[in-house]
Amino acid sequence: MYLLGPFCAESAAGIASNNAQGITRWTEVLDAWRIQCAGESVCLYRLRRAEVNGPRCLFRGGPRKANGALFTARFPASSMQEIQHSLRARRGAVIFDDLRAIQLRHGFLPKAELEDLSKRGQIPLYQIHGVASFYPHFHLMPPPKAEIRVCADMSCHLNGACELRADLERRFANVPPEDVQIRDVSCLGRCDHAPSVSINDHIFTDVTAALAEQIARGAIRGEEILESHPQAARVECKADPYGDAEKYGVVRKLVQSRAFDDVFAQLKASELRGMGGAGFPTSVKWDLVRQERAPVKYVVCNADESEPGTIKDRFIMTHLPHLLIEGMLIAGIVTGAKRGILYIRHEYHLQEEILGEEIGRCRRAGLLGKKILGSEFDFELEVFVSPGGYICGEETALLEAIEGHRAEPRNKPPFPVQAGLWQKPTVLNNVETFINVPQILARGVDWFAAQGLSGSRGLKFVGVSGHVARPGIFEVPMGTPMREVIFDHAGGIRGGRQLKAFAPSGPSSGYLPASMIDVRLDFKALAEAGSMLGSGAIVVCDDTTCMLDMALNAVRFYRNESCGKCVPCRVGSQKMTDMLLRWTQGGVPEPQYRADLALLDELSQAMSLTSICGLGQIAPAPIQSVLKHFRAEIDAHVLKGQCTSGICFTPAARAGEAQRVGIRP
Ligand SMILES: Cc1cc2nc3c(=O)[nH]c(=O)nc-3n(C[C@H](O)[C@H](O)[C@H](O)COP(=O)(O)O)c2cc1C
Ligand code: SF4
Ligand code: FES
Repeated sequence: MYLLGPFCAESAAGIASNNAQGITRWTEVLDAWRIQCAGESVCLYRLRRAEVNGPRCLFRGGPRKANGALFTARFPASSMQEIQHSLRARRGAVIFDDLRAIQLRHGFLPKAELEDLSKRGQIPLYQIHGVASFYPHFHLMPPPKAEIRVCADMSCHLNGACELRADLERRFANVPPEDVQIRDVSCLGRCDHAPSVSINDHIFTDVTAALAEQIARGAIRGEEILESHPQAARVECKADPYGDAEKYGVVRKLVQSRAFDDVFAQLKASELRGMGGAGFPTSVKWDLVRQERAPVKYVVCNADESEPGTIKDRFIMTHLPHLLIEGMLIAGIVTGAKRGILYIRHEYHLQEEILGEEIGRCRRAGLLGKKILGSEFDFELEVFVSPGGYICGEETALLEAIEGHRAEPRNKPPFPVQAGLWQKPTVLNNVETFINVPQILARGVDWFAAQGLSGSRGLKFVGVSGHVARPGIFEVPMGTPMREVIFDHAGGIRGGRQLKAFAPSGPSSGYLPASMIDVRLDFKALAEAGSMLGSGAIVVCDDTTCMLDMALNAVRFYRNESCGKCVPCRVGSQKMTDMLLRWTQGGVPEPQYRADLALLDELSQAMSLTSICGLGQIAPAPIQSVLKHFRAEIDAHVLKGQCTSGICFTPAARAGEAQRVGIRP
């Protein structure tokens, strides 16, 4: 996202500064400005990639004004309040813009550059360092020639990530660390093609050690890394009310009819709930923002999608970008927000491009920008590429990230509906929530209700990964039994093995045993089963899986991704990891085990009750679910030193212990 539009005073100063000093940064700023003037959709991350690619840059050659000047202030601020607000917004965003530019020039963030940025921007150095050191996307040290990062989370773990990493360590045992480093990375959003690795920030899927070695050795020799970038054929979805017909029909009608009350009535009657995990009623959220009297409001889409197993939003953005944009547009029009920001994880390059192109199309068709379709409504939409980290998906952490701060969740209340982005009322929803809105408004509440099974409503996109024959993303009726999703859609358990357990929604849902396979995919049914619908990230484990190992894998993820702001989560997740690791090593005397169990319960309660955000509150779920459903397996590990799956006590597992419990660098 580039927030230059409203800052004419700053831009004039920038042009002067460029003329006087010839600083590259300003050349980049001016280019971005020109792109804005050309009405292109652009995010800075993409712009910088394009610049690095030189002549192939997609964005060069924007129109000049008649007098040859490149720049114009497109959004004159209309009041003192808006000017102040805009300046504050710009100050926040500029840190990321600058850090990304520096990293693209040097490959990392040299100290001298940060000091220079501090002087130039009059931002305290500690503040810049605080931001730079928070996000995994930024490097404070020069990277090696080949940085191999193996995804170590649930779906990749179930598909041999540990062995892959150990194999790579062997293959590069004699290569110096300046040339190659091998580390863990959290879920890369390619859980359906596990194991995945990132090599110098390029993502590869279904990876073997031989393939990863070949790419990394090429990088060491200085060869360019080519990431395959498949152009996915558009998949037809039941969720799309338009098919081949003209799109954006709901918005077209809405700007004419202005029947906002009807929109709220339909959303309420549909009982649509948030699809990002918490399941909050969407109509309530939107209505609260509508009732706020603030002159500036925002619509934010959460496309951070970083929980292991969660890949549905990637699919939706690939195949239904128009529905997402239409959902955000409707939210803006009916709540009075004139600006939308689509926050997308930085590993989703293809989706970023697809959305950018769709936004461009909408601008040209008069569906975005000033006076939408000739009406009095304005709505600007920009893409913000996340600097990385699972915690950025927490709604208030996400807002902090957009503002250019460390992505640390805010204390609530106030909630984003009152004080969201830059403290303004903000509608913040998940990708799938937004695409449900035009579906409901185009086809009616009865249609929506009829899509679900056994009293559930609507359609649901789910990602299925792990030990299944056909991992992927499936569109199913809400209320579909899990058996049907896993066995019919995802092809059942791979290699003729038996189902042992499944996580209905990544680590945060905990694990359910095979005996609960008939649970329905529905908010209420899964809550009654002691789990949650969450983000529809179904991860499947066959009968070779060690459930204690899986609990350790999940808690380790939370430990790595904890932002560290509050003690219960920061310390509690580490203590849990230590305890579970000890359990996988066996030989714990019975009194100690009993004491451990009591401590684990106390810790779980403390974390659930006192952590600031959902991450710390949910971190105990995986081990608590395994204790509930697979207690005998844990007892056998701890008291008898036996792993029924033959995973924990083998020499290979001992040798790979560091990987199993790796700490994110
Ligand atoms: C640690 C953490 C990560 C989250 N990640 C996401 C995410 O990637 N996408 C998402 O939509 N919601 C995520 N959420 C939930 C959001 O905080 C928020 O509830 C949601 O975006 C609201 O949208 P909805 O009402 O449409 O579900 C996360 C929550 C937590 C605590
Ligand atoms: S619960 Fe964990 S992730 Fe959330 S604010 Fe506290 S430390 Fe950060
Ligand atoms: S890509 Fe590895 S768990 Fe998602």
